[in-house]
Amino acid sequence: MRVRLNNISKEFDGTAVVKNLCLSIEDGEFMALLGPSGCGKTTTLLMIAGIYSPSAGTIEFDGRIVNRLPAKDRHVGMVFQSYALYPHMTVYENLIFPLVIQKKPKVEMRREAMRMAEMLGLTDVLDRKPSMLSGGQQQRVALGRALIKKPRLLLFDEPLSNLDARLRITMRAEIKRLQRELGITTIYVTHDQTEALTMADRIAVMRDGVLEAVGPAELLHEHPPTLFIAEFIGHPPMNLLDVVLEDHEGQLCARLGSLLLEVPRWRSPQRFASRVKMGIRPLHVTLVRHGGYPATVYLIEPQGNQDVIICEMEGTRISLVTTPGHNLAMGDTVHIEFQMDNVYFFDAESGKSLL
Ligand SMILES: Nc1ncnc2c1ncn2[C@@H]1O[C@H](COP(=O)(O)OP(=O)(O)O)[C@@H](O)[C@H]1O
Ligand SMILES: [Mg+2]
Repeated sequence: MRVRLNNISKEFDGTAVVKNLCLSIEDGEFMALLGPSGCGKTTTLLMIAGIYSPSAGTIEFDGRIVNRLPAKDRHVGMVFQSYALYPHMTVYENLIFPLVIQKKPKVEMRREAMRMAEMLGLTDVLDRKPSMLSGGQQQRVALGRALIKKPRLLLFDEPLSNLDARLRITMRAEIKRLQRELGITTIYVTHDQTEALTMADRIAVMRDGVLEAVGPAELLHEHPPTLFIAEFIGHPPMNLLDVVLEDHEGQLCARLGSLLLEVPRWRSPQRFASRVKMGIRPLHVTLVRHGGYPATVYLIEPQGNQDVIICEMEGTRISLVTTPGHNLAMGDTVHIEFQMDNVYFFDAESGKSLL
């Protein structure tokens, strides 16, 4: 099913928390709604589900406006962070609950519950109460309960936040696989960029109730259209440095304190801005033995397969990643180089990319 949000807004007591949101989700697509806490993700999802009605704008399912369609008639399956299972019911009873509401025949309920249990690995725990299940199993029951209705649209709201790190990775993969197999259009709300990057076909990034950008993960990562996206997507986060752009006999240079960095022509800003931020990912700052610019090691964060080294230089902190085994310690002097082929420039005032 195709979903379209046309200029939707939501106000609570006169305060707009979602503002003029326009977004199209294709049939079978996995769309992540990514943004920091409080930016309006849940509110947006609840409008799509029919639990909230928009203050303005329209919502379309397959070209039909559904603003007035009650939640129960929208054929939507929802999975929340709190699994919202019925504690006094068994797994089996929880699974079939949506079909009981729909007054489906007993045989069909049983058949569908068994199919769900099989698919989600719950066959052995059908008689248990939710309190006797692990977090991962509870979340699978919640997923099964959403799927048993054969929804045309699946909505997830931070479904993995209550799980430990290891289980989150497993469930992430399971949800993605299942979504691919079933081909159900999915909208997945998360504040976790890793979930959005690893699972979704496209990511819609929200900020303060406004859609900041939408695109495939790779595009947002490689060509961040704004400072916010540059900072929010990618790990470790991009370095964003205050620079002054200067022309030196036809060669564009970025001045960072007393340093002068040559900007390759194809990375030169296309527009003028009075205040400029230069972005460079930690991966593109390198430690060198000879040459480069001196910096002081401020902190070392080992991450197993790589170390993040935070340096201080010209009064600014700059992160870089390197392989472990460097023998560096806090306070050491290092020499660093910027791979200027990989820099970004942003208008510090508007936040817009200058490339
Ligand atoms: N029912 C409500 N009444 C009043 N304000 C609300 C209500 N629901 C959400 N908000 C406010 O709207 C903003 C966005 O909330 P929400 O959509 O839950 O954000 P997110 O899911 O991105 O964390 C927050 O400032 C929140 O306090
Ligand atoms: Mg939320």
